[in-house]
Amino acid sequence: MQRATENLGVVLREARRRAGMTQEELSARSKLGIRTVSDLERDRIGRPHRRTVDALVAALGLEGAEARAFHAAARPARAGGARPDKAVVKRAANPLPAAPADFLGREAELDQLLTWVGYTPDLGHDPVVVSGAPGAGKTSFALHAGHRLAEMFADGQIFVSLRGLEQVPRDPHEVLGVLLGLLDAPGDHLPRTLEARVGLFRSLIRSRSVLLILDDAAGEAQVRPLLPGGGSSMVIVTSRNTLGGLDAGRRFALGRLGRSESLRMIGQIAGWHRLAAEPPASLELVELCGRLPLALRVAGNRLAVRPQWTIADLTRLLRDERTRLSQLVCGDLSVRSVLLSSYALLDATGRRLFRRLALTSGTTITAPVAAALIESDADRTGRVLEKLADASLLEALPAGSYRLAEPLTLLAQELLSTHDEPAEILRLFAAMRTADAETQAAGDALAGSNRP
Ligand SMILES: Nc1ncnc2c1ncn2[C@@H]1O[C@H](COP(=O)(O)OP(=O)(O)OP(=O)(O)O)[C@@H](O)[C@H]1O
Ligand SMILES: [Mg+2]
Repeated sequence: MQRATENLGVVLREARRRAGMTQEELSARSKLGIRTVSDLERDRIGRPHRRTVDALVAALGLEGAEARAFHAAARPARAGGARPDKAVVKRAANPLPAAPADFLGREAELDQLLTWVGYTPDLGHDPVVVSGAPGAGKTSFALHAGHRLAEMFADGQIFVSLRGLEQVPRDPHEVLGVLLGLLDAPGDHLPRTLEARVGLFRSLIRSRSVLLILDDAAGEAQVRPLLPGGGSSMVIVTSRNTLGGLDAGRRFALGRLGRSESLRMIGQIAGWHRLAAEPPASLELVELCGRLPLALRVAGNRLAVRPQWTIADLTRLLRDERTRLSQLVCGDLSVRSVLLSSYALLDATGRRLFRRLALTSGTTITAPVAAALIESDADRTGRVLEKLADASLLEALPAGSYRLAEPLTLLAQELLSTHDEPAEILRLFAAMRTADAETQAAGDALAGSNRP
């Protein structure tokens, strides 16, 4: 659809919701017809008159930066939106893949993203970064959001997998070649050097309005040459890595789903009647999956392909921690292999610490205690823990502590038993307990000396 304004519909809707008004209330306060308000929110009105915009700003009580952002959103679209005849993204050659049809949850993140888009005049300046554990639903979220936002980008959408989990991730030089083709770069030959490709890419994308999803990025260096650096195109990057070196406009760290969302997911996939028939078993099932979307998908699919099973039949198979990952498999979908692909990218020290963290059994992890597991000092161990957290293999908690979440803890347990000798495991466990006791005693002593 041709866009007449920047993104007024979303901006208006978000501002109205924040002001706690219904469309009817806004219509009464602004003295605009209810139909006008509704059409504006759906971007059905070309370019609203200045008086209309002023009336909305006043009725919504917007001031300062908020009022300026609202006026900016009501201006005619730049670039692609203003030049419909110019070459747009070759959509047919590169349609945005479908998001899961049964996508659910992540409402808070989606709301924040839509608001951010609505209020950010220079969308192309910094990308949106979506990070999270393996199988947390990063690609699904980016695609779901991409489809919701699609109409706001008059020159189309582009989805590119950067294959960050492969031993050799895609080279930005090659990716730029693909992007330049999709953006209809002029001439028969693509520029040879990376710099020249970056320059041409930036000039093309900054004069258009495109939504670019860079999926599964390996790291910052791979992403940087693919960013417009300004203009009204927008980039969403997904990665298991937090990509802390990038200037990001917004960051979303996707965690596990809530309990009721997890149950809904099982219900949608396997059938609501089964969920209703076995509430306690269903609750146990979603917890056994660590409420990780990928694990829930696998469990739901297993039930869907086995209509003869009860939910309790599946929970019985999943109860044993030692074999749970072998049971979290359906067809070619395997939780273990998805988790393992992140472990495979760690260096030797990272791997050693990750699998030995199984000995913490889901309790809080701190550097001085984890140091005993790799026989290092707290400072160095702290840096390894940070790397694991950056790779979304550890959950960062407040005050420099961490937690190994399900089902990653199962992978660590498996790897520990295959890589380390039982006697060594016992020795490390004892060393960890001693370090834990010492840290606690030091903490108690400090608290005692601070007492008046
Ligand atoms: N919000 C959701 N609603 C329904 N299904 C979801 C949701 N999020 C993820 N899924 C499902 O979970 C599975 C894993 O999702 P996805 O591939 O998006 O994860 P990811 O974080 O991108 O994984 P990876 O780290 O391997 O790139 C998919 O089968 C997807 O359909
Ligand atoms: Mg993904």
